[in-house]
Amino acid sequence: MAEPAITAVPEKMPPLAAAVPGTGRATILVVEDDAAMRTMLREALDEDGYAVETAAGGRAGVERVRQGGIDLVVSDVKMPDLDGLDMLREIKAVSPSPHVITITAFGSIDTAIRAVKLGAFDYITKPFDIDQLILSVQKALAERALRSEVARLQGEVQKSYRWGNIVGKSAVMQEMFALIRRLSGSAASVLVTGASGTGKELVAKAIHFNSPRRERPFVALNCAAIPDTLLESELFGYKRGAFTDARSDRAGIFVEADGGTIFLDEIAELSPTLQAKLLRVLQEGEIRPLGAARNEKVDVRVVAATNIDLEARLASGSFRQDLYYRLNVIHIHLPALRDRAEDILMLAEHFLSRSATRAGKEIRGFHEAAKKALLGYGWPGNVRELENVVERAVALAESDLVQAEDLPPGVRERRATAEDELGAAVARGLTLDELEREFITRVLAAEGGNKTRAAQRLGLDRKTLYRKLEEYASSAAPAVPEESEPQP
Ligand SMILES: Nc1ncnc2c1ncn2[C@@H]1O[C@H](COP(=O)(O)OP(=O)(O)OP(=O)(O)O)[C@@H](O)[C@H]1O
Ligand SMILES: [Mg+2]
Repeated sequence: MAEPAITAVPEKMPPLAAAVPGTGRATILVVEDDAAMRTMLREALDEDGYAVETAAGGRAGVERVRQGGIDLVVSDVKMPDLDGLDMLREIKAVSPSPHVITITAFGSIDTAIRAVKLGAFDYITKPFDIDQLILSVQKALAERALRSEVARLQGEVQKSYRWGNIVGKSAVMQEMFALIRRLSGSAASVLVTGASGTGKELVAKAIHFNSPRRERPFVALNCAAIPDTLLESELFGYKRGAFTDARSDRAGIFVEADGGTIFLDEIAELSPTLQAKLLRVLQEGEIRPLGAARNEKVDVRVVAATNIDLEARLASGSFRQDLYYRLNVIHIHLPALRDRAEDILMLAEHFLSRSATRAGKEIRGFHEAAKKALLGYGWPGNVRELENVVERAVALAESDLVQAEDLPPGVRERRATAEDELGAAVARGLTLDELEREFITRVLAAEGGNKTRAAQRLGLDRKTLYRKLEEYASSAAPAVPEESEPQP
């Protein structure tokens, strides 16, 4: 077996599962027939704070998983007694089954794909950097923790539809509340994605104010709003004399936010030079102000946000992959408001009571026709647009109910949107199959990719849904055309 290139000592990243209070250390089972590799993996994971057990072959691995108590399996593929893929199949038959990260040989992408199809959480290709594995381990454990939290929450009779200032009863929002709660003890980086106005900054703040860092600063910086040269000194500060106008030392926001959280908005706009510098800060936990002779230690949690498809930027090479993985330890995606329609009226009522109190008006709610209009509209500007529409309506309202007439014409006129959309589908000449495909894809997105819930909502059994998705995946055309996102 080829020797893996282990290029770095694991850096001290907070092991998420170990840092969350009350969960104890996560137990990882390493299944690997090569003794040297087994030891190396055990030591690296152990050093990162996990409880590690090992098995020298696939059979022993499956036996150990059946005994229970394993949170994650990291396994090689080529093993003499039971091959990693067969082992994966057997592990996935155990209930509850741990997540599995499969280590595949260089160039064996088919094996990797088969592993993922068999239910592997992730795969790592040799030779790999140990950091890459640690990040994947963190993700797998975070995702698992989230799942069990969601299962617990779903079991609760009383559901909370609010988390601080964040309102939402859709499944995606409920999951997000659980995730934020779960994240509170960790300092792992978070990447928040979603179109403009979906609530990315609000979520970033919620993460900060629900963490032990809440007493320390939350500093937000918009990477698109500041020219590159200034951005660097904003981030890292400078020493007196670093450049002509630097008449005294100045601390950057990494120092200002020490012990707290930095919110880097529109992260996709960061220049390649600053991407490299930010990556170094995240790796080393140190910054170097412009003109400084040495680095300074900082302890900052980074929450980054973007309304741009970063994965596309990775593909085109304009955003660094290594930085992306560092930022994306935890990923929160906020779907467009139209894809979580259950939240519309709840948000509208939330904004109504806030605006009414501010305006000193007594308004009880929305007239049925107004509700219909709110539900029928497409909300391209998402929650921000809804907030503005409700504020305006409250200002205009003359009775104790907001009337449809109090809404802007654009919102009112789209009242029969369901019909309009069908009309549009007719105009576009869609076949029934194509329409079905768009509908299924939308519902799946609205359920945050959860196929079980999507199937329930669609009234399909899961098998049928899986079969249809497979059909879609094997035909080339994308189901839903990429929509351009409104720019702020
Ligand atoms: N779930 C929610 N509950 C309550 N208020 C919300 C929610 N989501 C968004 N808002 C409100 O909507 C407005 C827009 O949210 P925010 O600024 O966080 O969006 P954003 O995703 O950062 O947008 P942009 O990409 O344009 O910067 C804010 O006033 C925010 O308080
Ligand atoms: Mg924002």
